[in-house]
Amino acid sequence: KDLGTPPARSSKLVTVEIDGIKVKVPEGTSVLRAASIAGIRIPKLCATDTLKAFGSCRLCIVEIEGKKGYPASCTTLVEEGMKVRTHSERLEKLRRGIMELYISDHPLDCLTCPANGNCELQDMAGYVGLREVRYGFDGKNHLKLPKDDSNPYFTFDPSKCIVCYRCVRACDEIQNTIALTVEGRGFASLVKPGPTGRFITSECVSCGACVFACPTSALMEKSVIEHGMPDRSVKTTCAFCGVGCSFNAE
Ligand code: FES
Repeated sequence: KDLGTPPARSSKLVTVEIDGIKVKVPEGTSVLRAASIAGIRIPKLCATDTLKAFGSCRLCIVEIEGKKGYPASCTTLVEEGMKVRTHSERLEKLRRGIMELYISDHPLDCLTCPANGNCELQDMAGYVGLREVRYGFDGKNHLKLPKDDSNPYFTFDPSKCIVCYRCVRACDEIQNTIALTVEGRGFASLVKPGPTGRFITSECVSCGACVFACPTSALMEKSVIEHGMPDRSVKTTCAFCGVGCSFNAE
């Protein structure tokens, strides 16, 4: 189970109250992880428990007693006696607004998308209760961008990218490679492999860390596109790479 952010290493425990539930966690734990440990699900897109917290998607906002605003729970660390609220009418409205902006820049082709049923964006849109998008679809420029099929194992479809930086961070933090960057700002921003925009001419070593990190189908294994999601997968780590890919055990 993904607990949101990596575990803290401290042996000192801190007690926090989240939605009325008291939980003891190591000092340095994020509020998002503490909530997961307490069995409370906070929506999230840019955070995972294998990457350093980044705080870019803002879906994981919470209310903290005595603090102003709506801090991101993935980048906020627990403090002794902290009281956190993860669900309220205001938080839910804000999260739906954020999700509306994501969806307004994302193709609405879920039914034919290879990630259908296995897409975190789709899952989170449902979880925050998004029913309509007031802004229409504004991702037309990205639709014109060609897919990058140059890597033998996976494809990159820029129209599906939500610029959560998970692939960029995975490449850097897990594989210690800088094959990916983000170019542009706002709706025009886009993940770019290497200087040419093609994986094959980038620093990519085909470890798959970026594909594993991607919450949509922007980065997707060619085998999944061709044959669908494997029914069963096991974790393995090959001798030359520290990523720990999943592969079909059948
Ligand atoms: Fe916290 Fe994205 S999950 S800001």
